[in-house]
Amino acid sequence: MNVSAFKVRPTASKQVDPGIYVQRAKAFESSLRSVKQATLLAVTGDDGTLDAFLVTPPTSKRAGRGAASLAANLAATIDAVVEPCDDVPDLLAGLGDRPCLVSARVRLESVAGRDTAAGADPAEVAKVIWRANVRRAWVAFTMRTPRPAEVSAYRSWVSSRGGNESHYSRGGELLATSILVGAPDRSTADDLLRQVVAAMPGLDITADPVVVGSGTLPWLLGAGSAGVYGAQVAGVVPALGSVSDTWPLALGLSVPAALGAHAALRLAGRNRLLSRLDGLDFPAPRRSAAKHQRRPATDSGGVPRTARVVYPLDRSVLLCAPHMLTGLAVPPGGSASGPATASSRLVPASLRAPIGPMLGADADGNPAHLSADDLYGGVGLLGVPGFGKSVAMRVCLGWVLARRIVDDRSCVIVFENKGDGATACRRMAQSVTGDPDSMLLIDLADASTPAIDVFAFPGTASQKAARFIEAARYAFGEGTLENASIEALNAVLPAALWLSDHGHGNPIALTHRLLGGFGDTSATELSSVVRAAAVTDESAVEAAQYTEILFGANVSASTRRTQSQAARNKLAQLAEIETWWDAGRSRVSWEDVLANHDAVVVNLGTAADGTQVSDRQTQLLSSLLLFQLREAIGRVCVGWQDQGRQVNIFADELSVLAGSSPETVTWLRDQGRSYGVRPFFATQYPQQLHERVRDSLLGFATMLWFGQNNPEIVKSAVSDLTLDGSDFTGADIAAIPRYFAVLRTTVAGVRQTPCLIGIGDWEMRGDWARFLTDQQAATGESYGDVVERVPEHRGWVKPGVQPAGSAGDAYDDSTVAAPVQAMAVPNDPDRFSPDRFNRPIPNDPQDW
Ligand SMILES: Nc1ncnc2c1ncn2[C@@H]1O[C@H](COP(=O)(O)OP(=O)(O)O)[C@@H](O)[C@H]1O
Ligand SMILES: [Mg+2]
Repeated sequence: MNVSAFKVRPTASKQVDPGIYVQRAKAFESSLRSVKQATLLAVTGDDGTLDAFLVTPPTSKRAGRGAASLAANLAATIDAVVEPCDDVPDLLAGLGDRPCLVSARVRLESVAGRDTAAGADPAEVAKVIWRANVRRAWVAFTMRTPRPAEVSAYRSWVSSRGGNESHYSRGGELLATSILVGAPDRSTADDLLRQVVAAMPGLDITADPVVVGSGTLPWLLGAGSAGVYGAQVAGVVPALGSVSDTWPLALGLSVPAALGAHAALRLAGRNRLLSRLDGLDFPAPRRSAAKHQRRPATDSGGVPRTARVVYPLDRSVLLCAPHMLTGLAVPPGGSASGPATASSRLVPASLRAPIGPMLGADADGNPAHLSADDLYGGVGLLGVPGFGKSVAMRVCLGWVLARRIVDDRSCVIVFENKGDGATACRRMAQSVTGDPDSMLLIDLADASTPAIDVFAFPGTASQKAARFIEAARYAFGEGTLENASIEALNAVLPAALWLSDHGHGNPIALTHRLLGGFGDTSATELSSVVRAAAVTDESAVEAAQYTEILFGANVSASTRRTQSQAARNKLAQLAEIETWWDAGRSRVSWEDVLANHDAVVVNLGTAADGTQVSDRQTQLLSSLLLFQLREAIGRVCVGWQDQGRQVNIFADELSVLAGSSPETVTWLRDQGRSYGVRPFFATQYPQQLHERVRDSLLGFATMLWFGQNNPEIVKSAVSDLTLDGSDFTGADIAAIPRYFAVLRTTVAGVRQTPCLIGIGDWEMRGDWARFLTDQQAATGESYGDVVERVPEHRGWVKPGVQPAGSAGDAYDDSTVAAPVQAMAVPNDPDRFSPDRFNRPIPNDPQDW
């Protein structure tokens, strides 16, 4: 197949302006001349989505350029992106074993039908298909330039029917069009075709569906055979007399011959069409001699008498103005639930004003903003995968990052569980701020990026141990670390921290070892290092004292083993995340990130380079870090809201972050506000959230409901959205198209009527200039005048500690008996070079 195919990609942030639409459609018509024929195709997917394509037949190079200009004109007309595509849909695969193809055939009616094009919605054709809610069906308009004779015959036919001067056919540009509809069954195909024809703006004739392959020719030939047979029977034709001797045989053969001839001819036409459609090769609208209508006789009063109607063209061909056809490719706006209710789903006036991030626009093109002051109440995004949650969240992120240019007193923390998500965030940061290093990447699986220091609490070693134990309890889930485990951890954590500080490796591996993870001898020997050090080194005294609990003279090895067992198992799970604890890795504390208003993206899932991380590890570390972030916020950010400072926390999958205890997430929303916390949380699995986390999320000041398919969630959405008397049904929620969301939000704490918005696609188009203009307009600020920011050198990132031994962060036995060593100094001065974190952002596959 070598047709050129183009796909229409909606730009949700804009909408078609009917005023200039008709005008622009004319350019579409003129560029069609150079390609001879083109097809507009609207295909509904399995999930009810509607995709539009432009297909032109295989042509010469010159015409290849023509196809591109046709696509450009279509794009301008319908205000969408029309781009070449390889993954053209398979028109037949979706239709099942017995696909039904119907074409439109003009019904002969003498009186002109209906409306004029004035005021008609150009997108109505596509909307009709959308509303028909059929799956895996398609509608094709195949167009060619008509011959002058066809146009003049058509015009005189129109005036003979009483068409007036404003009839569309008086305009210069017309296209001969045939309509083909494919659907899995007959009735769907018929309905779809009737509705589409009825929706074509300004078309004043009616057309009926005709099943492809049921033309008159097969019937004529079939009837002819039967006639010959009948003649034989009657003996009317003497010339056949000799045959009449073999009557029984003739009788036996003629009937199947008649039926067979009909069936074969019928199938041949159909099969030919099917195989052509397989290659997207649509048959051109038929040409036949244009038949001129005779002027109808008039009666004595000069009133025309109705004459027999002669349709001037082949009855499968309509002569249409281009704007009547291009509507097929207009991506349906948010009015999927019908014009009657669409008006009540428009963005309320309060949200059209520039009060905060602009998310997108409604079906009428009104911008939808969130109120910046209300972001403290949280933004929740719920929906099935692939419907645009992450993209919508990054619109908010982009706005926050852009605002930091004028007011850099806000901190940004993004939790990601996919490397490509982290890359997208950093790319956004770079595009918006122009600074490739504006977001610090912290990647679990990539030891060349810094890690978050989980022991960075103020206080003594035992206090640090206590804080860490609490975070670990949260991460592992309530009731998993009981008294015995806590006691064991208390006994060894201060020692592990001291050992780690003195170059013995990473504290988690050391804790695991001290708990007997490598056997009792290894644990005892390690503890004796601390106790030996305590003799001369003041700093080891406290740690050494705690070890007495497990390693005192009167504690037997077996008691030690039992007492530390539960804690040992838990620590083993943490210790497995080796790259994260790598002692040579540089570290940054939450405190420093917050106090310095830094922007970081923490990827705790599979790395950008594909290095795998198990879900369990992602989950454990996510919840551990979130807990600690919450504590750090409590220490660092007191009174931030009043000071106009913010901690923006973005989480792409809340169910990973929330751990098994609900406190942290509920705290962030309920108490976080006064600390300047603005949570942006998305999830596709609300049913997996702890009940209280879910309640907390549903109580966010702003909710974006994306498409849903879980009946429970649909129910919650309906009860959430109808709270203020708005009328939403489960069907409405289930039918929210991709990249659209119902926005329920507040302005100055007052709930606004929910509206349906299309999320802006700046990111997909790579149109950052436009993004910035739209967002600047959103707060009436200019982000452009700011002098280029000096890249931060992030002095608060601490270099890693080089292990004193040779065996990396694994504990080295040779150091056991050795005298306590001085704190190891990093031996690689480049370790702390700021360039370490400026690694280039990976190239985007889409190459923009
Ligand atoms: N507003 C939008 N306009 C156009 N395309 C979009 C839009 N939002 C998302 N997409 C496309 O859909 C893909 C999936 O979106 P994403 O936000 O990752 O979905 P989710 O997070 O809900 O799984 C994106 O990679 C992008 O190609
Ligand atoms: Mg996502």
